[in-house]
Order: sequence, then C-alpha cells, then structure tokens
Amino acid sequence: MSGLEIVRWAHGGEGVGIPREGALAGRVVFVPEVVPGDVVDVALSEVKARWARGRVRRIVRPSAARVPVPCAVQARCGGCPWMPGSAEAQGLSRRAILVGELKKRLGLGEEAIAARLEMRESPVRFGYRQRVRLRFEVDPRGEVTLGFTKQGSHTLVAIARCEVADERINAALPMVRRALSEMAGGQALAGRVTLVVGVEGVAGHVEARDGRELHLGPERVTLELGEHRQAVAPEGFVQANAQVTGQMLATLTAWAGEERRHHDGDPWAVELFAGAGTLTLALWRCGWRVVAYEVSERARPGFEHTRIASAQPPERARWHACDLALGLPLPAPPAPALIVLDPPRTGAADVIGWIRGAGARAVVYVSCDLATGLRDVAALAAGGRYEVARVVGLDMFPHTAHQEVMFLLRAMDRPAG
Ligand SMILES: C[S@@+](CC[C@H](N)C(=O)[O-])C[C@H]1O[C@@H](n2cnc3c(N)ncnc32)[C@H](O)[C@@H]1O
Repeated sequence: MSGLEIVRWAHGGEGVGIPREGALAGRVVFVPEVVPGDVVDVALSEVKARWARGRVRRIVRPSAARVPVPCAVQARCGGCPWMPGSAEAQGLSRRAILVGELKKRLGLGEEAIAARLEMRESPVRFGYRQRVRLRFEVDPRGEVTLGFTKQGSHTLVAIARCEVADERINAALPMVRRALSEMAGGQALAGRVTLVVGVEGVAGHVEARDGRELHLGPERVTLELGEHRQAVAPEGFVQANAQVTGQMLATLTAWAGEERRHHDGDPWAVELFAGAGTLTLALWRCGWRVVAYEVSERARPGFEHTRIASAQPPERARWHACDLALGLPLPAPPAPALIVLDPPRTGAADVIGWIRGAGARAVVYVSCDLATGLRDVAALAAGGRYEVARVVGLDMFPHTAHQEVMFLLRAMDRPAG
C-alpha cells in the first residue's frame, strides 16, 4: 500500500492510518516504527475484516513532529518506540488514547472528561530511569553481553548505554560487566540484573538462570521522590521514574489529605499491592494509619525500613504478606475509610468485590495498564457504587505508549463530611 498517512499513535504504541480509498478504505491499518504525520509505503502482513497490519517499506514524507533520536539501538531495542516523535506529539497521543479509553470503557462524555482529567508530563525525558532491568549472557571466555530483550521476541539487543537510564547507571555498566564475568567463573551464564540508583550510588541484584543471586553495591539506596525519601533494595519493586513518582506521591497526598479531613479520630486506610511502602509515605504524611497487603515477603524489611525512617510507630503501620489473587485474608482488616491500590499490569480483578463491600468513602486506584485499570475502575463504579471524581495521567515512561493513570473514586452514598 502506498502513501498512507499516519494519523496517530494507538494504545499499543503502533501508528495508525486509515486509507480513504482502495481495497482497505476505512479500515484501521496499524504500522509500527512511525510518527504521526508520516506518509509511508507499507508492506501489509495481516489483513482482517476491520483492520490490517504492515511494516514501513519507505517513508514517503517524514512528519514535522519527527526529532533526532539520540539512541544508537532505538530501532532494534524496541523499548522506546515513540522516541522519534517530539515531546508534544507524545503528550498529545497519550492524552488522546486516555480520553478515547475513558469514553469507551467508562462512558464519560467530553465535558465530564475535561472536568476530571489532568495530564502531567515527566520533568525529564532522558536519563529519567532510576531503575533498569537488563538481560545478560556471559560466554565461557568471560565476554559479557548486556542489553534488552526486543519486544515480542527473545533476541538480546546489546547496549553500551541506555539514553533513558540515569547517567550513574550507565557509568556503572563496566562494573556490572566485571561482576558478571567473575560470577560466571569461566562457564556460560545467563540471567537478568536489576540496577537502582539513589543518593549513595547504584545498587544491583543479579538473578542468574542457574538459580544463583548476587548483590552489587550498597544494600539499599535512598531515592528522592519529590518531598519524600525512601531507602530501597534492588530486589523489590521500585517505581521507574523518580520525578514522576514524586508527582504521584504529591497527587496522592492531596487526595488522601482531603479525604482525611472528613474523618474524626484516627482512621485506617487499606493499601493493596503495597510493596515496600512507597505510596504509604503519602498516606502517613496526611495522617492515616495504614494496613498494607503485598505478596512478596522480600518487601517486608523494606516496608519496616520505610516505617522507621518515616518515624511512624508500629501501631500506625501493619504490613501483611498475602496473595491478593486469593482475595483478602480473614480476619478482615479494620473497616477502612480509604482504600489505595497499585496493582501490577494484570490488575486487581480478584479484590474488586471486596473493595466494593468494604465501605470506604474513597478509593485511589493507580494503574500501570490502561486495559486492566479501566476494567477494574468500571467494575468499582458499576451500579453507581463509586463515581470517578478525578483522573491524572502521568508520563512515567517517556518515549513509550505506557501510561500510569491515577483514579480517585468517591462513594456515591457517602455521608456529607
Ligand atoms: C506496581 S507495584 C506497586 C508497589 C508499590 N505500590 C510501590 O509503589 O512500590 C505492584 C506490587 O504488587 C505486588 N503484587 C503482585 N501480585 C500480587 C498479588 N497477587 N498479591 C499481592 N501483591 C501482589 C508486587 O509484588 C508489587 O510489589
């Protein structure tokens, strides 16, 4: 197909064109590795009744939104598919995708969306990642290949540096290579290494496929997350973008702080998928006692560390290891006035029933996947149980189609505060 104009980026990160004439007229054609505004010739690989997919054969006319790409492996790595587009083009697409999904999945109209939605950009677009997970392979001569797995394949794309990683992580890569080579001890070895950078430098956690683990650098590093600081170990979950996590904590502090004013005494908030307590920092900041649930026992010492560093006594912070895929354990937590959840990509379908019945006046849902996040938010709102009061789109991963979205839901039958 020739002369297809790419009109936007889609939810999954590919470009979209809709031919006006020819055999595919009116059908949506998905094309990866393009920028909105490009006019391209496409080699079709898949044609269905309502859509088609193809690859760029030639860029006939490049988009005015194209910008120079500073990364040597961007086209092969696949981690930053939107990098050839300007920050403005990326921001417009993120908003358009989110607005489209809010209409489709929550039934909100333009006016309701305009009144509720706020988009925030990442203050830094390169060197923004405080956490990077790399794959490695070491050959029997001790040569180390360090890189990313190309999306949708098993191919390891070797890197010398990563343009979206914090510069201190790039500077630590030679040390990581030496440590991996030594760990391999003349044998072939493969696995993955997670690197986290904080005030003290870079800490790493190596997980080899043969089951061995290795810790690199300081045991914990202190992250600066807006007004908050948190010492974390690389073994547990760490949010990718420090500055956007600061925005997230500021938003949660504002919402949870406003909710707190409606409650006398010393109310409880329940936090689900709490990890080592990054979001808990904001809840403590505005005076909530917190019961936290998290599947990974490894996060327990991190949470304890965060509690002590935040000068919170044990009675203000309960942390339970529990698999929320099996629902909430009994005995049930104290009746929560506020529920906060930040589930993994698969969402939180198994706890939606519990949340709907728990009686909280407000729920904050932090989503890292639009499809599962909106599925769960729609289920919380179903039957008028909760209404979506605020939506904030955060640019946690610039140059990608991933969106971090925060939803504030308010109970419809809530007593006046
Ligand atoms: C997106 S992270 C959020 C962590 C934390 N809020 C933070 O900001 O660091 C999701 C967390 O959910 C936890 N998790 C994943 N599956 C779970 C399950 N079935 N039950 C409980 N926790 C789970 C993960 O271990 C991870 O800590």
